[in-house]
Amino acid sequence: MPELPADLPPAFFPPTTPVAVSRADFGPDFHWGVSAAAYQTEGAWNADGKGPSIWDEFVRRKGRIPRAETGDVACDFYHRWPQDLDLLKQLRIPDFRFSVAWPRVQPQGTGRPNPAGLDYYDRLVDGCLTRGITPWLTLYHWDLPAALQRRGGWANRDMLGWFTDYAGHVAARLGDRVQHWMVLNEPMAFVGAGHLLGLHAPGRRSPAGFLAAVHHAALAQAEGGRALRALLPAPARIGTTFSCSYITPWRPWLSRDVRAARRVDALLNRLFVEPALGLGYPVAELPVLRWLDRYKRAGDEERLAFDFDFLGIQNYTREVVRHSALMPALWAALVGARRRGVPITQLGWEVYPESLYEMLRQFSAYPNAPRLVVTENGAAFADEPVAPGQLTDPARQAFLQASIGQVLRARRAGIAVDGYFAWSFTDNFEWAEGYEPRFGLVKVDFASQQRTVRGSGQWYSDFVSGTE
Ligand code: FCB
Repeated sequence: MPELPADLPPAFFPPTTPVAVSRADFGPDFHWGVSAAAYQTEGAWNADGKGPSIWDEFVRRKGRIPRAETGDVACDFYHRWPQDLDLLKQLRIPDFRFSVAWPRVQPQGTGRPNPAGLDYYDRLVDGCLTRGITPWLTLYHWDLPAALQRRGGWANRDMLGWFTDYAGHVAARLGDRVQHWMVLNEPMAFVGAGHLLGLHAPGRRSPAGFLAAVHHAALAQAEGGRALRALLPAPARIGTTFSCSYITPWRPWLSRDVRAARRVDALLNRLFVEPALGLGYPVAELPVLRWLDRYKRAGDEERLAFDFDFLGIQNYTREVVRHSALMPALWAALVGARRRGVPITQLGWEVYPESLYEMLRQFSAYPNAPRLVVTENGAAFADEPVAPGQLTDPARQAFLQASIGQVLRARRAGIAVDGYFAWSFTDNFEWAEGYEPRFGLVKVDFASQQRTVRGSGQWYSDFVSGTE
């Protein structure tokens, strides 16, 4: 057998080491919350002057979403937020992350804001504060105004001006009350799935469009941060979020698999965070990124960097990677969890809570890394009814428990991570997968809009309130 490369990932299939957790282990200042997003929960897709988003249009295209489901109604959170926030309060979950729908604020994406749109978020923020819930606001969770897509969307550099203008309107209205801000939700996910794979809105499959969108989203991430910094009062904390998955080579003794894993790591985990930290794009590991130069202008390297107060880590699984001649430029393929015969969730994602620890370790290892917050983590599992009116979801509860254990493991290793948000508060519209995958701590019956707290939700409630 050839000699093993010196810097292998820590282990191939390391055994799961459960870490016992209690609320007290995290100290009083740790943030505990749940996450949600506008398009996945609000519904009211054309209410009160809201313009259509790229998702409103995408879901109407034939064959895009199973059972032709849409987010038109979703959890009807737009109308039911008072009851949902009451439930959150009753569950004693102190922090709530939600996103603002840009086309509610600016129906055509530019120009004077729609007062009814801003009023809605104003009420929502006040609704949190009067219940003692801390709001965490994401500016962009994928629902671009459709009018801007017609002008090229993320592939058009004008996005920088459109986006910072939008950020300014939201900050001006809510900045006096919202302290925790996130600029983008998972740029790699919306740029990759939306512009290269065609699986998400706007449904494009264009390598050139993808590269343009990468550069403009990376710039918008930093420019959005600067726009917020200029307007928000001092205690504001400005962050942004990243999708990430621990990458393991399929056969760690084969250097071609190890190199493939490094390329996929550069694409999935490093592409957006490194320019934000002033390190530029990871071109050395993924040479195809040189093509980004076509979209760069003088001064862009500096403009890509921003001094974020925190980075949001969003982790669900890990990926196992092998070399593949079939995928030009990346020369890599994922080895699916089903093929590997490992435990999986309803979406076929491997259950691998250690991935969260590995990602916290990786993101904290940058010399100038700011503090980290786990802004999303969770798992989809189908309900298994045990008795009428009763639901148990032991798999989801075990996943959350194990993941929180990995956060504790990271803190004990000296990693500065000071928050954890479960995805998601309620079941919701899971993008290209529709309503079937269930991520909620709270079950939603979409026909009646009835909410039922799952066992995992009760456990999380007891855990975060220290009564478990
Ligand atoms: C993340 C998204 C979030 C949700 C979860 C399951 O990538 O940010 O909206 O769909 O995955």
